[in-house]
Amino acid sequence: MMKVGIIGCGKITEVRHAPEYNENPLCQIAGFYDVFAEKAEAMAQQYGGKAFSSVEEMLASDIDAVSVCVANRYHAEISIQALRAGKHVLCEKPMATTEADCEAMVEEARKAGKYLMIGLNQRLAKAHAKAKEILDSGEMGEVLTFETHFSHPGPEGWTGMANSWFFDKKTAQFGVMADLGVHKTDLLYYLTGKKIVSTSAALATVDKRYPDGRLVDVDDNAIALYTLESGAVGTMHVSWTNYGAEDNSTKLYCKNGVLRLYDDPRYSLIVEKRDGTVVPYELDQLTSNKEQTSGGRTSTGIIDAFVDAVVNDHQPIISGESALHAMKVIFANQRSFESGRAERVE
Ligand SMILES: NC(=O)c1ccc[n+]([C@@H]2O[C@H](COP(=O)([O-])OP(=O)(O)OC[C@H]3O[C@@H](n4cnc5c(N)ncnc54)[C@H](O)[C@@H]3O)[C@@H](O)[C@H]2O)c1
Repeated sequence: MMKVGIIGCGKITEVRHAPEYNENPLCQIAGFYDVFAEKAEAMAQQYGGKAFSSVEEMLASDIDAVSVCVANRYHAEISIQALRAGKHVLCEKPMATTEADCEAMVEEARKAGKYLMIGLNQRLAKAHAKAKEILDSGEMGEVLTFETHFSHPGPEGWTGMANSWFFDKKTAQFGVMADLGVHKTDLLYYLTGKKIVSTSAALATVDKRYPDGRLVDVDDNAIALYTLESGAVGTMHVSWTNYGAEDNSTKLYCKNGVLRLYDDPRYSLIVEKRDGTVVPYELDQLTSNKEQTSGGRTSTGIIDAFVDAVVNDHQPIISGESALHAMKVIFANQRSFESGRAERVE
């Protein structure tokens, strides 16, 4: 039985971490911490465990692991503190706000001999997992070009706060380019198995405003043109200003046909072969932000995967190390926007 503490009691804890740990029979929630004590108390009342009065108090207890579900700026500091205290860590995405911090988290996990997992749940979505299996089998041949999208109406609908920290550069560091873009950047790397070697990114703030009418500090739209180490080129388009239905689709154009992922309301994966055959898979549908905030929920698998890694003592499937590449691309996107040129990913 694994004992877990949850740090940060906002939306992602409410809709994912707390209910998914609670439903896992191999796990017990030891308690919660939030800078706003009443939020930790409300969670403890609903799910059991105690409301800790500080991160230190939680880390001094007999928990095995923590979930780090706070605003981006505090991910590295709290994750490193927990690893040093000998706890396994599941940290939400984006991993951290500087490249040095991302690397320090991975190094600290290595030194502590503890597991660090990052909440890049898109890898576990059923159609993505099936596409990975098909691509790895070689039947579709090499990926030649691709397009991936992730867009919704923005984080204010998610957190329910018009003046969300997601808009504050000091606390969030990134806008939609990393908030949604890190999921899709990581997904491209995961599916193709190829690193992104260069990027040309356009970031813009066109519509998101603070309650006083000023445009927010961070980008609300971003497009990146990626080149993979194989030479394949393609695009990632992410947006917080899609006021229609959420778009979470990816298309991979391969030598032997096309994979369409979450591009159809019924079939989450459609394989179109070059010889004209079409194989539709009715697997799952991704739960949109709108559905999650109105109580709809399907397990993302992320919590179960973390519990399994801790209980059975093996590297988590989305280790900190494997999440580093997507973060390096995110920082290269930022550099490309600032320089106005294509940038290499180190
Ligand atoms: N994997 C995903 O798809 C996904 C989806 C949504 C959010 N997230 C990530 O989860 C994290 C939290 O997002 P959210 O939507 O829950 O935001 P939120 O604003 O709803 O919740 C954040 C909570 O953390 C608390 N907090 C902030 N700084 C803290 C600190 N230093 N110590 C303790 N508590 C602190 C706040 O009081 C708040 O209760 C973000 O990094 C976000 O990017 C991931």
